[in-house]
Amino acid sequence: MNEQEIQKRRTFAIISHPDAGKTTLTEKLLLFGGQIQVAGAVKSNKIKKTATSDWMDIEKQRGISVSTSVMEFDYRDYKVNILDTPGHQDFCEDTFRTLTAVDCAIIVIDGAKGVEAQTRKLMTVCRMRKTPVIVFINKMDREGRDPFDLLDEVEAELQIKVRPLSWPINQGQRFKGVYNIYEQNLNLFTPNKQVVTEKVEVDINTSALDEFVGESDATKLREDLDLIEGVYPEFDVNTYLSGEVAPVFFGSALNNFGVQELLDCFVEIAPSPRPTQAEERLVEPTEPKFTGFIFKITANIDPNHRSCTAFCKVCSGKFVRNAPYQHIRQGKTVRFSSPTQFMAQKKSTIEEAYPGDIVGLPDNGIFKIGDTLTEGEQLHFKGLPSFSPEMFKYIENADPMKTKQLAKGIDQLMDEGVAQMFINQFNGRKLIGTVGQLQFEVIQYRLENEYNAQCRWEPVSLYKACWIESDDDVELEAFKKRKYQYMAKDRDGRDVFLADSNYVLQMAQQDFKHIKFHFTSEF
Ligand code: G4P
Repeated sequence: MNEQEIQKRRTFAIISHPDAGKTTLTEKLLLFGGQIQVAGAVKSNKIKKTATSDWMDIEKQRGISVSTSVMEFDYRDYKVNILDTPGHQDFCEDTFRTLTAVDCAIIVIDGAKGVEAQTRKLMTVCRMRKTPVIVFINKMDREGRDPFDLLDEVEAELQIKVRPLSWPINQGQRFKGVYNIYEQNLNLFTPNKQVVTEKVEVDINTSALDEFVGESDATKLREDLDLIEGVYPEFDVNTYLSGEVAPVFFGSALNNFGVQELLDCFVEIAPSPRPTQAEERLVEPTEPKFTGFIFKITANIDPNHRSCTAFCKVCSGKFVRNAPYQHIRQGKTVRFSSPTQFMAQKKSTIEEAYPGDIVGLPDNGIFKIGDTLTEGEQLHFKGLPSFSPEMFKYIENADPMKTKQLAKGIDQLMDEGVAQMFINQFNGRKLIGTVGQLQFEVIQYRLENEYNAQCRWEPVSLYKACWIESDDDVELEAFKKRKYQYMAKDRDGRDVFLADSNYVLQMAQQDFKHIKFHFTSEF
């Protein structure tokens, strides 16, 4: 029984740079899944875009990230779980960590802009974890770049081989549609946000194609397809599953074009829940006993109900409401009387959940990111290493009467994974590092509202935090001595070098050849 449930699950994230069309694509997928009736219903993500330090907005954003954290829907015989990856200003560690809980990803790229910064960063995580990815090149209804150039760029920038499974016929004003290489049929484009496209069965080697798209576009399509067959090897689903090759689709999410083809191919080729690596062993989803881990914790927006929601990915067995589970880090038994699942924006209590599913657990402070739950076995699921933050600020106490509150608040927020903290070894000051500016505002706001503590920020201009190690103790000591003002410890007590520029880092690498400088905390 479990086996069947596992086979039909597809748990994935849509990743993109802001504005490439992630929200629009998500919405169209939910439309096909029957979760929403009309386009425009997933408006909430829009609020994320307002760059503002208005506290209400931060509150709203946090609320929204709870409701849109996971979206589930049924499609054909499959159960699809989409995990939201926060983007825009609230791009943060959470975004990376969400990728530890997915089995595959869809990357949305704006056809006019090509590969952008956030996509590149998120793809690094996918590559590390060998997560299979499908690329959707969006906005083909706009004048964009040459599709072959785009494919080259995706290969070079995302460092993955590509294989087009659909091909655009012209673009912008002259966009006629796409030829679906995977299904071998033609989809003609009719600009319409609600209607699903009609497919035309056509033999591209006959004049029927010319009738549909015109002679010159027909000739061009035949030439392009010849070139594709010549340049790219035949699509092999195993190379996709092993994370070596990314199938590519073209379309226009806004016009609902190419989305169903993407979804149809996705549910067929995407992996069902994959095994999860624990420190002790590899855990197969088909194992009878329940295991799972917490990959995200979201605070409640309502100040009267302080509790958080911890998101647990089920890795094996069956999660059952009220069953006793072992909270490994705390060494105690826990039961959950109101676990939730997320259907579009609605939350509902569930009785059971299977591998691949995400369960929302009410959390009054018992969880940390990365915590493992089992039926008793001592297991520790491996999380994602921390990456070097990109922005750094010293955190200062702005109310000497509330020192304890501040320390406790910072500690708990770091446990939640809101940001990373380093202690500068030279001056003992606490340095907070984030990947997005908004995180500093969220921390300050939450310290005030949840811990009754006041903080002040002092910006520091740093390039990277590098975890350092060496087999040569003498050189390591010499380095730490030379750079004593720039040495810090992370929360696990590991040595971190705070490089204030790329130049300084390069010089350090040159001068200290036996020291390894790592940009992630696990190496
Ligand atoms: P994001 O979540 O990745 O940030 O992107 P989102 O879906 O919000 O899309 C960003 C903008 O791009 C939106 O326009 C959206 O309508 C537009 N868009 C998405 N897909 C397509 C497409 O296939 N073709 C074209 N031409 N545009 C597309 P906006 O003006 O920011 O918002 P709205 O006022 O249209 O809602």
